[in-house]
Amino acid sequence: MPISKMQREYLDNANRRWCFKTGATRSGKTYIDTLCVIPKRIRARIGNPGLAVILGVTKSTIERNILEPMRNIWGTDLVGEINSQNICYLFGERVYCLGAEKVSQVSKLRGSSIKYVYGDEVADWNEEVFEMLKSRLDKPYSCFDGALNPQGPNHWLKEFLDSDFDIYCQKYTIFDNPFLDKKFVENLCKEYEGSVYYKRYILGEWALAEGLVYPMFSREKNVVGGEVEYKRGHQYYVSIDYGTVNPFAVGIFDFDGRSSTMIKELHYSGRDRDRLDNEGYYSKLETLIGDLPIEYIVVDPSAAGFIETIKKYGKYIVKGANNDVLNGIQEVTKYLNYGILKIHDSCTETLKEFQQYAWDDDKPKDEVIKENDHHMDLIRYYIWTVARQLNRWIV
Ligand SMILES: Nc1ncnc2c1ncn2[C@@H]1O[C@H](COP(=O)(O)OP(=O)(O)OP(=O)(O)O)[C@@H](O)[C@H]1O
Ligand SMILES: [Mg+2]
Repeated sequence: MPISKMQREYLDNANRRWCFKTGATRSGKTYIDTLCVIPKRIRARIGNPGLAVILGVTKSTIERNILEPMRNIWGTDLVGEINSQNICYLFGERVYCLGAEKVSQVSKLRGSSIKYVYGDEVADWNEEVFEMLKSRLDKPYSCFDGALNPQGPNHWLKEFLDSDFDIYCQKYTIFDNPFLDKKFVENLCKEYEGSVYYKRYILGEWALAEGLVYPMFSREKNVVGGEVEYKRGHQYYVSIDYGTVNPFAVGIFDFDGRSSTMIKELHYSGRDRDRLDNEGYYSKLETLIGDLPIEYIVVDPSAAGFIETIKKYGKYIVKGANNDVLNGIQEVTKYLNYGILKIHDSCTETLKEFQQYAWDDDKPKDEVIKENDHHMDLIRYYIWTVARQLNRWIV
């Protein structure tokens, strides 16, 4: 079977206690492990004392990322299923398959001697789980193979990789995988363009999330002008970020079957004006919507009281938004780059926030500065909770 130059290099040189493949998404890291590395390491240690283990973020990601692809290559006789004791029979060996999200999930390994660990998505593990492994790989033949996508440069794993432990470490870019379709790579590059995700997932670097969150936001691609009018066949949605002391921010989105345009905004700051109660906000919301037929409204999930107020009137359907900040930002990045999220030029507060919304580069993990972010939040709620569903066959 043909393999890439980097995959070949790994097979030839990964003979340290700790062997890693870091880098871009889809770059061929896991493929060579399921095809070759895992079976070879397991078979070489069969009959020797010590546990064999596969660790992933959760048991289901182990199944999806590792066992299923391995079963497709090797068949069900050699690659079993994870049973109720977290054991899976692989190439004739009992292998523990455990989630590494919480240290309690790997309590089985405490005090055990380990002969082999395969680690999937290692940068997403709980650090304590990784720490524990260091003292458990105690046989002369014990070893670890792992793959991961890089995160920020202050990540705990980066420190380990730069240390003088007995480590072999490769760094992949997406261009190191010759088996990917060119168009697929082109699209992925476009999707991440200008963002920290480009550096991490395309170039495979441990890049800091710094500066503007959406530097790719462009007047040309993402701003529209002209008359705002109701269009038959389009769908309309409302997204709300709720604040009492902080601003109450509302956006109305027009979905044309592919693109979403924010056509109207409301920015009400109780700091500068009279504070409003939920009834007051509801009446502002009704005025903003006017006669537009609204499919449903998504609201800041922490605003339980305001969600109840909307429900009480029974006029609109309302849902709590999904507030997954980092995945939401990554999704918004993609929509901006594809030009399928546009802002009407009358939405001045939103346009202003796009120029201000920034990463907090003093933090060890990816975090945004929580200022000037109300319209950014409502856009995220809309894209991650609504548009992602509407566009699931397209992007
Ligand atoms: N040697 C190969 N021969 C044929 N196809 C390959 C080979 N290596 C990789 N591929 C293809 O490239 C795709 C991506 O590879 P792989 O899943 O190993 O990427 P990855 O680096 O683990 O990505 P991620 O970081 O997203 O998990 C695979 O689904 C497979 O189709
Ligand atoms: Mg992988």
